[in-house]
Amino acid sequence: MSAQLQELPRIRRMGHADLDEVVAIEREVFLFPWTRGNFSDSVDSGYHCLVLEQDGRLFGYGVMIIGPEEAHLLTLSIAAAAQRKGWGERLLRHFIHVAREQHARSMFLDVRESNHVAARLYERIGFKQIARRKDYYPAMGGREDSLVMELVF
Ligand SMILES: CC(C)(COP(=O)(O)OP(=O)(O)OC[C@H]1O[C@@H](n2cnc3c(N)ncnc32)[C@H](O)[C@@H]1OP(=O)(O)O)[C@@H](O)C(=O)NCCC(=O)NCCS
Repeated sequence: MSAQLQELPRIRRMGHADLDEVVAIEREVFLFPWTRGNFSDSVDSGYHCLVLEQDGRLFGYGVMIIGPEEAHLLTLSIAAAAQRKGWGERLLRHFIHVAREQHARSMFLDVRESNHVAARLYERIGFKQIARRKDYYPAMGGREDSLVMELVF
């Protein structure tokens, strides 16, 4: 009998060696994905780029910028097979923890108006909608508004 031990999932910094997996997930979950260059530039710029990993495989990631007072979450994704298990919330809470440690006073993000799953996650954690950017995102057959959300720490 052989017992297969699973490693516990962990959150760690994203590096260039992760980009193949990151881009594969990105293309799986977004209709208008970031490019490999977007992620590569984010890593090179020293943004807070984090991945979720288990047994050597990535299943989620996010990118955040922290300024003197405020943090901006630029993207957050969980691979389709790992969604609805609480990992999005876990990674988001980790970003909030990092932003607080770096003395940010609030976190901002944009979410597509139609992305109810993501918006519900942000609301559950305490984000409030503070603005709307008209036609901010490309969409099938046109453009779509973004909802700007803020969490005050
Ligand atoms: C948005 C996203 C990051 C959320 O990640 P996730 O891991 O699925 O999020 P969670 O599991 O924490 O929460 C999502 C839902 O799963 C539910 N859930 C959490 N744990 C669960 C569990 N163990 N069993 C069943 N459902 C569960 C939550 O209650 C929530 O339900 P709701 O949408 O009805 O409120 C993910 O769906 C994703 O990557 N989407 C595509 C990319 C995207 O839209 N990113 C955000 C851009 S702004």
